[in-house]
Amino acid sequence: MTVSFVSRGKVHSLSCPRISTLTELSGLMYAAYAEVTVRHTEIKMIIISRILIRLFITDSIEINRTIYNPLLKRYIVFMKKISLTGIKPTGDLHIGNYFGAIRPALELAKEYDARYFIADYHALNTMKNPEELNSTIRQVAAGWLASGLDPEKVIFYRQSSIPEVFELTTMLMAFTSKGLMNRAHAYKAAVQENEEKGADTDAGINMGLFTYPVLMAADIIIFDSDVVPVGKDQVQHIEMAQDIAQSINANYGKQVLKVPQAAVQENAAVVPGLDGRKMSKSYGNTIPLFAPEKTLHKTIMRIVTNSQSVEEPKDPDTCQIFQLYKLFSQAGEQDALAKRYRAGGMGWGEAKEELFRVVNRTIAPIKEKYDAIMADIPALDKILEQGARKARPIAAAVVNRFRKAAGID
Ligand code: TRP
Repeated sequence: MTVSFVSRGKVHSLSCPRISTLTELSGLMYAAYAEVTVRHTEIKMIIISRILIRLFITDSIEINRTIYNPLLKRYIVFMKKISLTGIKPTGDLHIGNYFGAIRPALELAKEYDARYFIADYHALNTMKNPEELNSTIRQVAAGWLASGLDPEKVIFYRQSSIPEVFELTTMLMAFTSKGLMNRAHAYKAAVQENEEKGADTDAGINMGLFTYPVLMAADIIIFDSDVVPVGKDQVQHIEMAQDIAQSINANYGKQVLKVPQAAVQENAAVVPGLDGRKMSKSYGNTIPLFAPEKTLHKTIMRIVTNSQSVEEPKDPDTCQIFQLYKLFSQAGEQDALAKRYRAGGMGWGEAKEELFRVVNRTIAPIKEKYDAIMADIPALDKILEQGARKARPIAAAVVNRFRKAAGID
């Protein structure tokens, strides 16, 4: 059995005997401990006490538990649960992405062992312009880093840097019924659109779109992911990943692959767009995260309002300016602005200026970081490469486990 563990951001591997009991697992800790102390003599206890050893065991045994290690005289948590999500590189991150996806995923990273990646091969299904794809990959990666993703804590990489994902995709294909893919919402919507236009059913539909859920299942399964933070629109894809993993486990009569769970961001803020509908790129009603200040101001001034006059008292609870304001302000500020709404005498223009002030206050430092990251693309690429280097041994272990179970070893 091979065990790899992460210490100070590096993956180390060691071979060890089969582990079936906690006592043996504890014995393994001594081995891991020795390995760490050899590499970091001067800080050996610090490494251990901060629990920088996370074990990834290639056999499917359950080790998500806390045990007492007599040598270290402390409890050690073996493996936090794993949270994984893929980020499709579509350009121009907006504040809807920030509150709806980025912030909740970064919040989850505090509690989970997080692996977040740029799903660039998924994007290839729709983005055929090389310059555009190349630059959006960087923009999205820089956006997440600027928003607070710490690449020392989160394994952050590009899907395309992990060839094992594509090997696993091929293996999953053998267990995925075509009928399951026929039922995928995105594929069905594309077919329906063709039918409505009177076009051929398959027009404009490539195999990448049709098999999208299999690649996504491989993304998830390859890291033994426990939870996948996603929006509601992705839940069906996670259910398909569950179906595929379960049929593989059923076929081999053991848990070869971990069955993931969706972590739907129910409590993530609903961010209204300029026109009051949900903020979304497809509605063209977004407020960009990284636009120059002037553009940001102009965009906010374009928020659609009703025709109430300056004098009229206004209702903050039904106003998207106020809903947006709440995302960027403290309770005291919110109370003060709500009072001004209800008192009358404040026009929409003024409310928008208030909103701009708080949005800019939050966004400006993030944008500054974003600009600095984008100014040094080689450094950004290095971060992503380092993430891939950490991810690959973990991915390879899962693929090998599957190959062995399948008789292809
Ligand atoms: N399909 C997801 C989206 O469109 C992106 C994605 C790709 C993903 N692979 C994933 C999300 C794996 C979660 C897990 O947003």
